[in-house]
Amino acid sequence: VDRGVDRGVSGEGTTWALRTNGTLEDANVHLAALEAAGLLGISEEDGRATLWFPARAEGLPLGGDWEPVEDRDWNARSRALLTPVTVGTVTVAPPWAAGQGDLVIDPAQAFGTGHHETTTGCLAALQELALDGRSVLDVGCGSGVLAIAAARLGAGSVTALDIDPLAVKAARANAAANAATVEAVEGSVDAAGDRRFDVVLANLDTTTLARLADRLVARLAPGGTLIASGVGLERQAEAVGAFAAAGLAVLVRAGGEWAVVVGHVRPAPGTAG
Ligand SMILES: C[S@@+](CC[C@H](N)C(=O)[O-])C[C@H]1O[C@@H](n2cnc3c(N)ncnc32)[C@H](O)[C@@H]1O
Repeated sequence: VDRGVDRGVSGEGTTWALRTNGTLEDANVHLAALEAAGLLGISEEDGRATLWFPARAEGLPLGGDWEPVEDRDWNARSRALLTPVTVGTVTVAPPWAAGQGDLVIDPAQAFGTGHHETTTGCLAALQELALDGRSVLDVGCGSGVLAIAAARLGAGSVTALDIDPLAVKAARANAAANAATVEAVEGSVDAAGDRRFDVVLANLDTTTLARLADRLVARLAPGGTLIASGVGLERQAEAVGAFAAAGLAVLVRAGGEWAVVVGHVRPAPGTAG
């Protein structure tokens, strides 16, 4: 099934396009607010971003001209215009725009085209670690983008979990398309059993992270690193508090609207280092 980035819009009816005077970067700055307003996708033509919505939306941070678009047209345009995104050495691209060596993600089925700031933040944090031969757990893998990136960056084993069976299916398909070895399993952190990992990735949301903090930290091997996102800037303290209470020394990398929480297991009291 290849329906572009329509995120579940049916083939019937009308989609609305807001042709803004801003660029793709301008739109990305406001991504969280736009998504809260129902954003389906963004495309760029001649340096101007077009935002796609299921209906006209009020009170948006970006202005412009609204235009109704037949869904069929929207699908075709969005397919053609979804652009590759590069973070460090990793470029994530949809199949129809992929170049040699790109990490290819079919965006039709699950969250994780690589464009969201929470994903790019995790991709950046991941590339600061020495992954060679390390074991990686990705909780909330969505399309599998982070898990596949970890495999490409040299991880020795990668396990990807998601409570959404469609995401697990998409992660498996995307891993196969990238010739990446990723074990994708349906379930939350408990599906990892008693195994411990050198790196635990969790791009979820603050409430879920706080709820799962103890269990995510319990999956870290000695010396391991947690990379978590889905944390809005206004909720950084909550996420930091939860992971600190679970035993991590925590560092926050704040982006435009989202933060990435990076945590290391604190040495037990009385031990060196
Ligand atoms: C924001 S997406 C992240 C996708 C991808 N990892 C990325 O960084 O682009 C979050 C994913 O977590 C999944 N999810 C939500 N709650 C979860 C939980 N408690 N355990 C496992 N997965 C969960 C959702 O189904 C969704 O696919």
